[in-house]
Amino acid sequence: MDRIAYINGEYVPENRARVSIFDRGFLFADAAYEVTAVIGGRLIDFPAHARRLSYSLGELRIDPPASEPDLLSIHRSLVEHNGVEEGSVYMQVSRGAADRSFLYSDISDSTVIAFTQEKRIVDHPAVARGAHVTLTDDLRWGRRDIKTVQLLYSSMARTQAAEAGYDDAWLTQDGVVTEATSSNAFIVTEGRLVTHPLDRHILPGITRSVVIELAVNTGLGVEERAFAVDEARRADEAFMTSSTTAVLPVVNIDDLSVGDGVPGPVTRELRRRYFERLTE
Ligand code: PDD
Repeated sequence: MDRIAYINGEYVPENRARVSIFDRGFLFADAAYEVTAVIGGRLIDFPAHARRLSYSLGELRIDPPASEPDLLSIHRSLVEHNGVEEGSVYMQVSRGAADRSFLYSDISDSTVIAFTQEKRIVDHPAVARGAHVTLTDDLRWGRRDIKTVQLLYSSMARTQAAEAGYDDAWLTQDGVVTEATSSNAFIVTEGRLVTHPLDRHILPGITRSVVIELAVNTGLGVEERAFAVDEARRADEAFMTSSTTAVLPVVNIDDLSVGDGVPGPVTRELRRRYFERLTE
């Protein structure tokens, strides 16, 4: 890998991008991030990602590192430098480096890094067969609406799921499905989409909101409400959404088929419309 990465105002070969050992992103996971998809060399829904980054930084009281146009130009430069056709741009803003302390009130010299990753999104390998997920207790912290780099539990859950032969884990709390390890979870039941409401228990996914809008425009009912594990098992269809997977069908939950056990028509249509809107 010899990508160009961005760090604090500079574009450098990735192995020259270095952060202090005192960086609070490293010591305290004191950082917010965004992952913006790139499809056909174009950034997808960048303004919404910039808005969410601004929200996360505001909740953490980290000073915004740059204006939205400047952040956009960093993203565009990286896509261009690295010739990315399909994949993502990862951007992380930490509170910066300071002597280790639990008190952060007067630290304001944020560290900004960004890099690109190539990935198949349109022809994602799990789309045709559909994903198999397992159910796992949601033991993450209580402010999941902030997109922080505190991802250890999600990473553990995903790894354990993979080791047991699943594509991902759907996280559950008090008997309801919150979301997947790095996607929002949806079911289709009685012809309506159901997904967890926006609150502190889930990340307000950009793809989630696009899909809800597409569904409403198609005349499909949408219920933003918690759904129980049993309801998910009995659903006609299930899928998950994220910037890097778009709409990913889920055909099996904890070894029980969802519906017919193949990607369902509503899911496939929403995925089709998701990409169709990019060509409009
Ligand atoms: N993850 N929920 C969680 C916990 C996530 O980490 C993500 C995104 C989503 C979907 O959000 P969006 O549609 O805005 O991508 C939901 C990114 C892709 C990641 O961490 O790589």
